[in-house]
Amino acid sequence: MKADRLLIDCHAATMVEGGTAYGAIEDAAVVIADGRIAWIGPRAELPQVEAVETEYLNGRWLTPGLIDCHTHLVFGGDRSGEFDQRLGGATYEEIARAGGGIVSSVQATRAASEEALFASAKTRLEGLKATGVTTVEIKSGYGLDLDSELKMLRVARRIGREGGVHVRTSYLGLHAVPPEHRADRETYVDKAVDEILPAAHAEGLVDAVDAYCEPIAFSTAEVSRLFEKARSLGLPVKLHADQLSNGGGAALAARYRALSADHIEHADDDGVAAMGQAGVVAVLLPGAFLMLRETQAPPVDRLRAHGVRMAVATDCNPGTSPLASMTAALNLACVQFRLTPEEALAGATREAARALGLQDRCGTLEVGKAADLAAWDIARPAELAYWLGKPLLHARWIDGRRS
Ligand code: NIG
Ligand code: FE
Repeated sequence: MKADRLLIDCHAATMVEGGTAYGAIEDAAVVIADGRIAWIGPRAELPQVEAVETEYLNGRWLTPGLIDCHTHLVFGGDRSGEFDQRLGGATYEEIARAGGGIVSSVQATRAASEEALFASAKTRLEGLKATGVTTVEIKSGYGLDLDSELKMLRVARRIGREGGVHVRTSYLGLHAVPPEHRADRETYVDKAVDEILPAAHAEGLVDAVDAYCEPIAFSTAEVSRLFEKARSLGLPVKLHADQLSNGGGAALAARYRALSADHIEHADDDGVAAMGQAGVVAVLLPGAFLMLRETQAPPVDRLRAHGVRMAVATDCNPGTSPLASMTAALNLACVQFRLTPEEALAGATREAARALGLQDRCGTLEVGKAADLAAWDIARPAELAYWLGKPLLHARWIDGRRS
């Protein structure tokens, strides 16, 4: 077998289901050709390989490259002042209703150049990459007018070209009502649905459509209008659902066969059951839960009972989750939501791929999948969720190239 690269003297947490914990292969070998995994298995069974390069990994663990399937990585400014206010007792809703919150990031994002947005997103991206991330989802939603939403999405695409990660974009026009439409929100919804989304789609900037369904944001009726449009354009949908209250977001996501319903702290059993039926992934966001000092964890037991797949993501954003570490997200998901370390790692690999519709491309170490991998200085896979802040990454490969 001819190959570009052979990885050897390593263990592999393949995250393939149905076998050993973590889909682990002790003393493994991985053969990479044309950017894909051409062979993976126990080293003792390795076929004859002529590889251009062989890398000995000194007993390190390999995992699929981590996938951060929910971020707002591109934004102007920061909201550290609001953090002070919240620590002083103000709630997220109070700040949002008083015209702060998302809207203050909208002002800073509108004022920023594409170059400045790219540069600031890049620094946060470095945090994610240093924790093994090879694919990042990036949402718009701090522009909220045609030019600024397109600007954000173009920056996201540029990150995909120049940032050393794969990027999937989501159009999040229904994130907040922009200040100029406070008196006529329907006009804004019309614009977001009928003008901005089609324009962004026509420019090839949209991989999925997202919305923030919450009393302080948009109603299920408004989100339904957006989702109908997405359907007519052939775009998959996802939803910020039931984060601060139970507003039927999980059920709505299920009705539209969304890729994912995200947050879902307050989803009820009917919503969770509907997600299970429709195959909607639950994206758990423990950074926002931590920063907002929430007390009601997502219904993890009910998710398990209904067979709902769970992903874990950073939700990296300036307001509720200034978190730029995927391994920290794993730890927080275990400590706060009681995921097992194996569930958390599956949530950052296999299930995160599913939440982006990429399950045939990445998320597990299997023959035919993209050679997006991470090698770690750990003795057991559970350490990825155990350490909080210790650098663990040895190397990343994207499409078979070390990066
Ligand atoms: O995922 N929930 C809405 N959107 C973000 C928060 C955005 C912000 O506050 O800037 C979230 O938590
Ligand atoms: Fe979010």
